Amino acid sequence: VLNFSAGPAVLPPPVVEQVQAELLRMPRPGMSMLEVSHRSTGFQALLEETLADLRTVGRIPADYQVLLLHGGASLQFSMVPQNLLGPGGRGCYVETGFWSTKAIEDAGRVGTVVVTGSTKDQHFRTVPSARSLLWSRAANYGHVTSNNTIEGTRWPELPDAPFPLVVDASSDIMSGPMDFRNCGLIYASAQKNLGPAGVTVVIIRDDILERCRTDMPAMLSYRVHAEHRSCYNTPNTFGIYVLGLVVKWMRSVGGLEQIRRMNVRKALRLYEALDASDFYRPTAAPECRSLMNVTFRLANQGREPAFLAAAERAGMDGLAGHRSVGGVRASIYNAFPEAGVSQLVEFLREFERTQS
Ligand SMILES: Cc1ncc(COP(=O)(O)O)c(C=O)c1O
Repeated sequence: VLNFSAGPAVLPPPVVEQVQAELLRMPRPGMSMLEVSHRSTGFQALLEETLADLRTVGRIPADYQVLLLHGGASLQFSMVPQNLLGPGGRGCYVETGFWSTKAIEDAGRVGTVVVTGSTKDQHFRTVPSARSLLWSRAANYGHVTSNNTIEGTRWPELPDAPFPLVVDASSDIMSGPMDFRNCGLIYASAQKNLGPAGVTVVIIRDDILERCRTDMPAMLSYRVHAEHRSCYNTPNTFGIYVLGLVVKWMRSVGGLEQIRRMNVRKALRLYEALDASDFYRPTAAPECRSLMNVTFRLANQGREPAFLAAAERAGMDGLAGHRSVGGVRASIYNAFPEAGVSQLVEFLREFERTQS
């Protein structure tokens, strides 16, 4: 089955095979990773290796800490303002879709939010131009969602801001070389490009960490997690192990430049096929189309249930658009095979032919 799910999503086959091979007994601790203590030297070594690999493959600069936390990107929606907004502080948010709206809602429960730009009136088909953003002068940070998983849009380039950016990169982290310019904090759930569900990656610059509030409950405090190297409480040991294998796989296929090339090839192939036909309508504006989540409608929307059912019969799973928008979404993250995209392109043509 070809897995087009938006997350949890397809994993690289060599990773799943290695997990299978090692499930009963890892060579080093001599037991299954499912039963290893997070305080054991075996797991601690694996954690350190995973953090080092993330740093090398992601080219994460030395003045950033990498944390592996719980709670998904959704917990970051409140953790970010809780840690970064002191009394009287404010966060500037750009509203570009479903997930940025959730981030805005949660931040508004914690502190003052200024919406600096929005494409809501364009049904989130696009992201604002960097020039149109009205950053308020005095703010603690600006928040953007680098890839809008549901709407199928992305920022071609992160905007400049007069203060550090916080980036929700859940659906495009490490899909290519990362841009750390002006980024104070990057967060992402693992279950799209980095591994299984249940691990959240937070990459935070040292000066931002220094500015975090000190009066936070321990589990909500970036400072506490950084001081305890992501082991303040029991981390998701198995998820971190699989994430470590995914990062090693990224290195084995040539690193993030090569991954970006593969992602561009896959996405262009699919958009070209969609653009070549009047039968399908890509939903995102061309200048900000996502490389990860390709969203489209059928010109005759009434045919979408038949399209999705036929796709499923043809072995293509997870193509239904998010329940909030409907339509079709092909999520083609790093581990999604190029041959799978070719198969979908063939299917698009065949379905159109049989329906016309
Ligand atoms: C961009 C983005 N942000 C946040 C989330 C929420 O992630 P989680 O379910 O891990 O909390 C998602 C989930 O798909 C997402 O795509």
